[in-house]
Amino acid sequence: MKKICSLLMLLLTCLPLLAQPSKDNHPWWQHAVFYEIYPRSFADSDNNGMGDINGITSKLDYLKDLGVDAIWIAPCFPSPQVDFGYDVSDYRDIDPQYGTLADMDRLVAEGKKRGIRVVLDLVVNHSSDKHAWFADSRSSRDSKYRDWYMWRDGKDGKPPNNWQSLFGGSAWKYDPKTKQYYYHYFYTEQPDLNWRNPEVEGAMMDVARFWFDRGIAGFRLDAVDTIYEDPKLTDNPINPGKNSVGDPNMEDKYNKRLPELHKPLQHLRKVADQSGERVLIGETGADDLAGVAEYYGPKLNELQLPMNFFFTGVEKISAPEYRRQIAPWDKNPAGGWPVWVLSNHDRVRHFTRYADGIHNDQIAKLMAALMLTLRGSPIMYYGEEIGMENNDPKTRAEVKDPIGRLNWPKNKGRDGERTPMQWDTSKNAGFTTAKPWLPVPPSYKTHNVATQDKDPNSILNFYRQLIKLRGTNPALLDGEYVALNQDDPNVLAYLRKLPDRAVIVALNFTDKPQTVAIKSDITGSTQMLLTSAPGEAKQQNLESLKLEPFGVFVGEVVK
Ligand code: GLC
Repeated sequence: MKKICSLLMLLLTCLPLLAQPSKDNHPWWQHAVFYEIYPRSFADSDNNGMGDINGITSKLDYLKDLGVDAIWIAPCFPSPQVDFGYDVSDYRDIDPQYGTLADMDRLVAEGKKRGIRVVLDLVVNHSSDKHAWFADSRSSRDSKYRDWYMWRDGKDGKPPNNWQSLFGGSAWKYDPKTKQYYYHYFYTEQPDLNWRNPEVEGAMMDVARFWFDRGIAGFRLDAVDTIYEDPKLTDNPINPGKNSVGDPNMEDKYNKRLPELHKPLQHLRKVADQSGERVLIGETGADDLAGVAEYYGPKLNELQLPMNFFFTGVEKISAPEYRRQIAPWDKNPAGGWPVWVLSNHDRVRHFTRYADGIHNDQIAKLMAALMLTLRGSPIMYYGEEIGMENNDPKTRAEVKDPIGRLNWPKNKGRDGERTPMQWDTSKNAGFTTAKPWLPVPPSYKTHNVATQDKDPNSILNFYRQLIKLRGTNPALLDGEYVALNQDDPNVLAYLRKLPDRAVIVALNFTDKPQTVAIKSDITGSTQMLLTSAPGEAKQQNLESLKLEPFGVFVGEVVK
């Protein structure tokens, strides 16, 4: 490799020269940066302490400036809010606390003007117990909707089998009115729909069409792993030990990832394809790539973007661990497009997971560089672009998420990662003038949009640069992932390679400066595109590439 490195130019000035938009033969969702919004916490337009749809619309310019292509909004449909919207009581409307259908239509239209698509969250596994379908179903054993849910007799005065709810206790709830149990994988207020009943499948397809017709770009499908259960209700095997909610460790062998579930998902894909270029993202929680890969479908005819949650399970940053996590995806046997997720509304924010108290912001930049230079579609979580941290409840009385209330203090619930977006230094971080539904962490004084907007070296501006680079550099868009220096315990390095050019990414996963000799057979002259330490890493020789603690180098070799 010829090691001439032009110092020069900062990324943004050189972009127009280096980066021609690729001849795009990809569907939009393969090159899109997705951004998850928890609607209760993003922006509060009517100042009642909770976010809403008009709040999101008011921030579209911010999102455009950040560079995101699509927003996924966690459920905003009418709901008793037991699970903050994941208990839907009407799939075809907007909860009044978030606005109206007209507000949603406006969001979609305003998004379109800015090139931002809107993806909604379709809760397919269960409805709310307040949904009209369930109210009818539970009213009598003869109800027309009885078989839309899973009703069974008990066994000797006990639940029908040993299946446990993810949120604690038996997954069966006795209903005295009709003297049977109904099944709920999540809270008791979230009865599972019976997907073996074709009417349920038909109803959900109609719901999907309803939203596609309103211009929704796709769905994130909630809890798809659990939509089918063994009809014989075979007991699940029990493993030693207890889980985080204090129940015996159970292998969900007979109520999770049953092969039957792929058929209706393929049906939904047909509905999506018939409606134009729509995307289906899956909340797919398999333990390995092979499990996730099944959701692409045998002919890539199922979900385009089954989520890979493996990064969210990495508790400590380490180059070898991340290298191990990334490697299988490029050889993905199913040939599906990779998806990258670091944080979401159910997982501790990665800022908190990885902060070392000294290099916190630099680590946030390191992780951004990783997420946004890999081949595949990144799904960001609101606030990660400003280094938002978890703000976990300090006492049980403060907890809003029922998991936290039920299992305190072992499990504090998910409030910590769902706190209001930090917009500026004013009271409540500019989210609301009322009392916010969850408290803003003290870090909002420094980690907010307004402050970081002004600082060229902020996390926010680093994200903006990266997203812009990613969206315009052909190798970052389409290049093959090639791991480099695979034995290096400290620096994760890789190429994104096209026949005539390649981008080199080197990420220092340690708190010590590192010097690394990049071993690659790529030849050409190298230009620095981006570094997380502007002003310092001016000139770089790829045989002795210097990286600051948790430093980032992104350079391009052109033949
Ligand atoms: C999904 C959601 C989670 C919710 C659960 C039940 O896992 O991400 O927030 O509690 O489904 O709907």
